[in-house]
Amino acid sequence: MIETKKIRKFFPAIKSGRILTNNAASTQVPIQLFDLLKKLIVRYDNVHRGQSQSSILTTEEFESSYDTIAQFIGAPSRKNIILYRNATEAINSVMYSLMTEFKDGDNVVTTFMEHNSNYVPWYALSKEILPKFGINVECRIAKFDKETGELDLDHLKSLVDERTKLVCCVGASNFLGTKNPMKKIRAIADASGYVQPNGEKKSYLLIDGAQVVPNMFVNVSQLDVDFFVWSFHKMLAPFGVGALYARQELLEKMRPFLYGGDMIAEGQVSPEKVMYNQLPWKFTAGTPNILGTILSAQAIRLLMDFSLNPGKKNYFMTKKALEAPAVEEAMKAVEEHETMLITEALGMLEQLPSLRIFGPKNPAHRTSLVAFTCAGKSPFAIAEELSARGVESRAGCHCATLAHHYYGLDPAASCRLSFYVYNDLEDVRKACSAVKKCVQP
Ligand code: ALA
Repeated sequence: MIETKKIRKFFPAIKSGRILTNNAASTQVPIQLFDLLKKLIVRYDNVHRGQSQSSILTTEEFESSYDTIAQFIGAPSRKNIILYRNATEAINSVMYSLMTEFKDGDNVVTTFMEHNSNYVPWYALSKEILPKFGINVECRIAKFDKETGELDLDHLKSLVDERTKLVCCVGASNFLGTKNPMKKIRAIADASGYVQPNGEKKSYLLIDGAQVVPNMFVNVSQLDVDFFVWSFHKMLAPFGVGALYARQELLEKMRPFLYGGDMIAEGQVSPEKVMYNQLPWKFTAGTPNILGTILSAQAIRLLMDFSLNPGKKNYFMTKKALEAPAVEEAMKAVEEHETMLITEALGMLEQLPSLRIFGPKNPAHRTSLVAFTCAGKSPFAIAEELSARGVESRAGCHCATLAHHYYGLDPAASCRLSFYVYNDLEDVRKACSAVKKCVQP
């Protein structure tokens, strides 16, 4: 179990008395990362662009951050990891890189429970971009069960056929909390019979792991996923870094998303031919978010320490490799902790008859977030009242706009509480008691 008492003291935001229950949007930054930033800026310089000791050291730290990130998700190497500004940009990069591979009559299958980031790029590709080139690609959307919040796998399966180039699915919903069965979705994509340009016969699978990687153990190699994205501002790091994992073979052949800068092979530019850099730098055009990358990798290491040995520095600021069993142990503890929190939250909120709670009833089937509406009271009014009572929630559609319309919600909004590793049962009880006061006459 996570020892929250030992963790909470590292968070200035918690020490200031805030009740933080908007963690699905963004988590808080621990003091260790602020201190590290102060240390780094003393000898900061650009990476791959200088001969000074500062540049060499920063480059080493920047590059080894990719190793940490790869190890954490079970990727074979840093060559599989491309860093962008956020998960949204990472999904867009896949769309732009694959754009020229789509053939007339192809389709993309996504779901009604997607974040807009994993629907709108495919909408734009099929409805706005490719038609301009005379290529018609359909964007199909799989349903989910309104009562249970579970993805309708039979419907998904019925949409996937031999013209499905790509299946795009959220690993865990940021509105329903549903943890999707990624292996079963992989099997559906595998069975499509679509012939990819490299001769592989299957649909590619892209998983939006924004609510997966911060909250549970994931091994992209075991999952055999083709593309997997997430962001670091939901797992203790500051804003500005999102990641794309992709199979190396695909990245080798894919077109770069952005052109220029460091993505060029040194000296290989002429009017006739431009050669691209080796992976992962082929996808790193322009000066990257150097400090953000280092802090993101160290956030992973700190999360490992928080879970396994709070207050000790076994992983943070060390060169220790992240072995899969240790990552699994750490993230299983995080997941267990979060299940405990959401069990308590559901138990309390279910006592309030005016609430409509979305997503699976079984806490084990969901991440540690819960969204709800209240008859006769706007979710925005609830969130504002919660804020006045010192509880930080979020009201809106959480960018899961399709799903809110799917329920016919007007406004297309819900109020959401979402917990993270530093929340304890007391936070949950305070937040749910405040909800009770807001919604009971
Ligand atoms: N998509 C993030 C959320 O769920 C920002 O709130």
